Amino acid sequence: MWIAKKRGWEIAASALTPESVFRNRRRFLAGAAGAIFAPALLACEKKAAAEGDATPDPSAGLYPVQRNPKYTLDRDLTAEADATTYNNYYEFGTSKNIWEAAQALPIRPWTITVDGMVAKPQTFDIDALLRAMPLEERTYRHRCVEAWSMAVPWSGFPLSALVKMVEPQAGAKFLRFETFMNADVAPGQSDPLYPWPYIEGLTIEEATNDLAFVATGIYGKPLPKQSGAPFRLALPWKYGFKSAKGIQRITFTDEQPMGLWQALQGSEYGFYANVNPAFPHPRWSQDSERVLGSGDRVPTQIFNGYGDFVASLYPDLNDRTYFY
Ligand code: MTE
Repeated sequence: MWIAKKRGWEIAASALTPESVFRNRRRFLAGAAGAIFAPALLACEKKAAAEGDATPDPSAGLYPVQRNPKYTLDRDLTAEADATTYNNYYEFGTSKNIWEAAQALPIRPWTITVDGMVAKPQTFDIDALLRAMPLEERTYRHRCVEAWSMAVPWSGFPLSALVKMVEPQAGAKFLRFETFMNADVAPGQSDPLYPWPYIEGLTIEEATNDLAFVATGIYGKPLPKQSGAPFRLALPWKYGFKSAKGIQRITFTDEQPMGLWQALQGSEYGFYANVNPAFPHPRWSQDSERVLGSGDRVPTQIFNGYGDFVASLYPDLNDRTYFY
């Protein structure tokens, strides 16, 4: 994802990223020894990324969890190493190759504050929350607005379970999700081009739809940092940018939240952002998608194929408001 208007004085966030270890490895790979060992080393890099940080995650013992058979796929699962080494996480840089930079993010202690228009505002410690929630695995397709897609097994719990715990007030219409803010470890957050922190929003009807999922794990393990640990959204009927990663605050409100991408380029990124091949993005036809890891291109489906779950939430399927 990138934005249309980049001005001359702006430095690409990737240029600010302290990826010395990464670059040293690349330099080695480019040398003579690299010619021999490069394939093996790259495989190791990808394997390490898939396995995440060397520090044991305190939630590791909770996974794997039982798969919910209600959520089925029409394609193979994406290889774990592909899904966890090709990421969008602008806090750590603008390239897809941020998995190593993301390891700098401390994910314990980690709290999620739920506040605003609720009867029971609370701050949850992630590990206490994980123990309290009905964890399950769901295989979901994920469709980025950049026209690539993947299919992954998320672990976590329905967002509706969290909504129920805090008892929304009658006037609450939207949920506003806010990602961590820590420019010391996330160099992208020093880029003044972006209105940090990362914000996204849902209507309360969307948040309580069966499909709306809080992902805390992937491939039967805790989420790695580059995938949004320890708490992210998985909203498979929407373009991927709606699925905010590294969330620390959820605020119930009566005002439609303004997402980071919408704030940056409102003509290209809207609030609803439901997948629909009939409404092209100015830079990406949404007709088809590149399936990560396979090289295949497949046709894109309205609501990313999840219309049976969510189409009733949107009164007019010809209204672009719902589809960008
Ligand atoms: N969340 C945060 N905090 N920062 C981001 O840059 N990128 C979004 C979304 N959530 C993003 C984010 C986009 S554009 C996509 S496609 C998905 O995360 C990518 O998730 P993945 O890296 O696990 O595939």
